[in-house]
Amino acid sequence: MPDDDRPFADDDRDTSGGGDPLFAEAGVFNQTELIRRPELLEISTVPGSDRIAGRTEEIQYVARNIGPLVTNSEPTSTMIYGKTGTGKSLVSKHTSQRVVREAESRGTNIEMVYVDCAQHNTEAQVTSKIARELNELAGEPESIPVTGLGPSHYYSYIWSLLDEHADGGIVILDEIDQLSDDGVNNLLTQFSRAAESGKTDTYIGVIGISNKVEWGKKLNSRVLSSHGNEEHVFPPYDADQLRNILYAREDAFHDGALASEVIPRTAALAAREHGDARKAVRILKNAGKIAEREGAEQVGERHVNEAQTKAEVDRLRELLATDTPHARYVLLALAELTQNTDETKFRTTRIYDAYGEVCDQEGADHLKIDRVRDLLREHAFNDTVESALKSGGRAGGTYKQHRLLKDPEVVEESVKREM
Ligand SMILES: Nc1ncnc2c1ncn2[C@@H]1O[C@H](COP(=O)(O)OP(=O)(O)OP(=O)(O)O)[C@@H](O)[C@H]1O
Ligand SMILES: [Mg+2]
Repeated sequence: MPDDDRPFADDDRDTSGGGDPLFAEAGVFNQTELIRRPELLEISTVPGSDRIAGRTEEIQYVARNIGPLVTNSEPTSTMIYGKTGTGKSLVSKHTSQRVVREAESRGTNIEMVYVDCAQHNTEAQVTSKIARELNELAGEPESIPVTGLGPSHYYSYIWSLLDEHADGGIVILDEIDQLSDDGVNNLLTQFSRAAESGKTDTYIGVIGISNKVEWGKKLNSRVLSSHGNEEHVFPPYDADQLRNILYAREDAFHDGALASEVIPRTAALAAREHGDARKAVRILKNAGKIAEREGAEQVGERHVNEAQTKAEVDRLRELLATDTPHARYVLLALAELTQNTDETKFRTTRIYDAYGEVCDQEGADHLKIDRVRDLLREHAFNDTVESALKSGGRAGGTYKQHRLLKDPEVVEESVKREM
């Protein structure tokens, strides 16, 4: 019999009656239960009204623009920008749901479709997704292929489904910067002109969302202004707001399971670079898990500090996953410079050279230096890089210096994982 097929030897079976010591040593029996409702600490959970804090103005902003659908009036499509974890996706979904509900109570049927453009990143995929969702909401009157049709066919389905089954529509295009410029342009043109050009009688409100503000600035001049869209930047949360967000989920834990300093400390840590609610919720969850694993009776500040490190790494990975490859190459170039020299601040030209080497290793074309400047600005916007203007360049002018705000090893590991 070959070795691998032999049944397990029984040497590890415990005969003393005390059980296999492996599990006691691994702490399996000592865990405490501190978290009562883990779902409240899941990032994917969309919290209800009573658990949303600090975004009153933003909710009102979306309601002002998309809300007219409630009375069957024309909405204003909007673009929402803001750093990661500032509630853009949440506020858009939450307010849209309230529009749908309010409309329903007035006898108006609004259909809402949410598209993650990181997953559906061409015009054909986005329109296919919208058409299929509308079809499902209408009870599958059509049979729509997932792929294989051009966007114009999917648009036809969208117009006819809306005309026949709805009084209005909301389309949320999240991570819209993942689409090509042409794709975004076509989508916005089609949706904003659909009623005007007689393709459908139904009003459609579009909410585009992005955490790439530089991308938005460029797009704006070319595309958005010509459609009369509104735009809005969500500010980061301050420590007060983060505290309120966390207190609204305190019941995720058993009574008395959180030491009193835990939430303020978590909020302060999450507010440090920029107020990122996702990071705050995640630190709290990880702190709870670490404490449980240790068999602690209460989550304390020590657990929070430990959880912070892990949350940072997870956040960076997620952020990089929705970046373009070249955005990652730029960051990797800066991380390598930081690791291989004893300097911490580098001029754009220096980073550009290092970026060129990364591209060569990856067999990728080099972008022009202006594009790399844009990418550095995106990184600065999301607090992975800090950029400062210096005077005294060769010609006596000014130049920019960039410093990596993350641990270069973590950056390298995260970037390479995405390559
Ligand atoms: N105002 C808030 N109240 C309660 N929870 C919030 C609030 N804002 C954000 N959160 C929590 O943080 C998570 C992340 O928020 P959201 O997805 O809206 O961020 P985002 O701005 O879309 O970030 P990204 O640019 O990374 O997509 C939400 O799922 C929610 O759990
Ligand atoms: Mg989002």
